[in-house]
Amino acid sequence: MAMTATLAEAGAREQAKRMYDRIAGVPATDAELDAMLAIMDANDDNITDSDADAKAAAELALDSSGFYNVTLKNMVTPWTNEEQTMFADLNDFTATVIGLVRDGDDYRKVLYDDVIYVGASGSLAAYSNGSNQHYVDLEASGADMGDTNVLERRSQSSVTGLQSSATAGVLTTRAAAKAFFVAGTNRAMFRFTLMNFMCRDLEQVQDTTRTPDRIRQDVSRSPGGDSRIFLNRCIGCHAGMDPLAQAFAYYEWSGEEGTEDGQLIYTANQVQAKYHINADNFRYGYSTPNDQWDNYWREGPNSALGWDSGLPGSGSGAKSMGMELAHSDAFAECQVKKVFQTVCLHEPTTSADHSQVSSMVTNFEASNYNMQTVFTDAAVYCRGD
Ligand code: HEC
Repeated sequence: MAMTATLAEAGAREQAKRMYDRIAGVPATDAELDAMLAIMDANDDNITDSDADAKAAAELALDSSGFYNVTLKNMVTPWTNEEQTMFADLNDFTATVIGLVRDGDDYRKVLYDDVIYVGASGSLAAYSNGSNQHYVDLEASGADMGDTNVLERRSQSSVTGLQSSATAGVLTTRAAAKAFFVAGTNRAMFRFTLMNFMCRDLEQVQDTTRTPDRIRQDVSRSPGGDSRIFLNRCIGCHAGMDPLAQAFAYYEWSGEEGTEDGQLIYTANQVQAKYHINADNFRYGYSTPNDQWDNYWREGPNSALGWDSGLPGSGSGAKSMGMELAHSDAFAECQVKKVFQTVCLHEPTTSADHSQVSSMVTNFEASNYNMQTVFTDAAVYCRGD
């Protein structure tokens, strides 16, 4: 009997180690492992559900600074630049995701709330609309962003001066603006939001059966002199994307591509010039008059993204469009898949993995979209491999 207990304990110890490593990104100390084992009840003298015990043990790893400073930072950084590299400085986008996860807030707010996380004032450069130095300093300090005295929640409008109705979570952070409002036509902000928060690039949502009435003037209706290309290809993305990206009509980035300088610009009720460039490509195309967006993809094949029937599917500006995306089933599934990949170190592949993903989505919703639930659920599921 003693022998079995020892083996069970060894197995549990391995599992606890693995759960901690995967969540915190750094190894557990002996004291932390002992605390986890005490919860996991390795000797099994209390007959309880072992997954529930493992989950309670995994929650201890959420207190590690590694979870915030390493795991989350590395997971989120690629979402904040076009190159999708994780080798970039902490910024206001990354810090805001980290803060929302730490505070167990409704994670959907990431795309629409008037929220930003900043470092506590002290030796750091002050937050600036024109520079990322505040976050460079915060990262260099090595301070634990899991500590509410280190990373503090603020209303974004109070920090950046952007009017509250124009804030849309991370979409209106300096880092997102620098990466996705720079140059171009603001469609990049839509594309990268779709990739990073809905786990889909435009190739996967193409639908040539939508009405093309909101496609902007810059999209030729007969590329290379052939209107069939427009009908069979261009419409697939632009019919749905252009009326959604209209939500960003009042936003611009002041700086030049490839430079660090610049800040978010917002011109209430005034459409940015970039929405009217190359209007001669097709003069009868749609000329953007305001920031009214409509989701044409609520109908047709993209209804499968699971839009919230409690929302109208149209509105004005980035905030309501961010909510449209964040309240979809695809958003919840995407967060779960990203965490699964981060914690289990592989994509969900087997049928067991896929049913695990569904149950994690259910738990995510039931926890009012608390991302911590997703991390601990994933750690429990993968603790044996
Ligand atoms: C798979 C989706 C997709 C298809 C199909 C597509 N586009 Fe686009 N298009 C985009 C995206 C995304 C952008 C924004 C690019 C960026 O800024 O990152 C864009 C931007 C543009 C722009 C603005 C210039 C720019 O680079 O920002 C024009 C003009 C354009 N597309 C024309 C066309 C034409 C003409 C066709 C058909 C031949 C077409 N597109 C087909 C997704 C698509």
